[in-house]
Amino acid sequence: MSTWNAETAEWYAAKYGEYATNRLAADAVDVAADAVIVDVGCGTGSALRRVAPRVPAGALIGVDPLPRMLEIARERAAQDPSGHRIEFREGPAEHLPLDDSSADIVFAFDSIDHWQDRAAGLREVCRVLRPGGRLVVVKDGGVPGGTAAKRAFLAELARSGLVVMREEDLAEGDVSCTMWVCGAV
Ligand SMILES: C[S@@+](CC[C@H](N)C(=O)[O-])C[C@H]1O[C@@H](n2cnc3c(N)ncnc32)[C@H](O)[C@@H]1O
Repeated sequence: MSTWNAETAEWYAAKYGEYATNRLAADAVDVAADAVIVDVGCGTGSALRRVAPRVPAGALIGVDPLPRMLEIARERAAQDPSGHRIEFREGPAEHLPLDDSSADIVFAFDSIDHWQDRAAGLREVCRVLRPGGRLVVVKDGGVPGGTAAKRAFLAELARSGLVVMREEDLAEGDVSCTMWVCGAV
């Protein structure tokens, strides 16, 4: 899907808004209890809702460019026991509404392929990460296009100054994803 608007936000939220990969990846990430976690392209906020109980003293910020998606995310957060701790901000990856060096962890769960300018988005991620911070990229079903596409993706991360520190395939039933945990150099 290349066009995101209010209609596609509602379609996505109804069909994939609680997709299992959010839960699998959120559970697999190492987080400190006081971490500041930013989810770029947060969709319905399901990854942040999942990780919230593990960061009782931290901050949880969901960022998405679609106002309708954020409305849905706020509605779902309001129904969640930890949801009141999640703040949602409107904006694209290419212009993150965050201060420099303000995040410990940035999630990009099934979102990086939807950014309009991936290099600009990755520059923004590096800007907002604190020293020692981590970008966690998740792609549902791994990288489409096989080994060459995966090499190209990893090279793109490296060009952006990101080093892959951990790569893990996660699966549950017929749902699978690959997770890369990257540090900024
Ligand atoms: C496939 S959905 C994934 C949502 C959520 N992370 C999940 O895994 O359920 C892609 C998301 O990227 C968002 N998006 C679209 N363009 C974007 C951009 N330029 N920067 C950041 N997010 C964007 C969409 O609004 C949508 O919420």
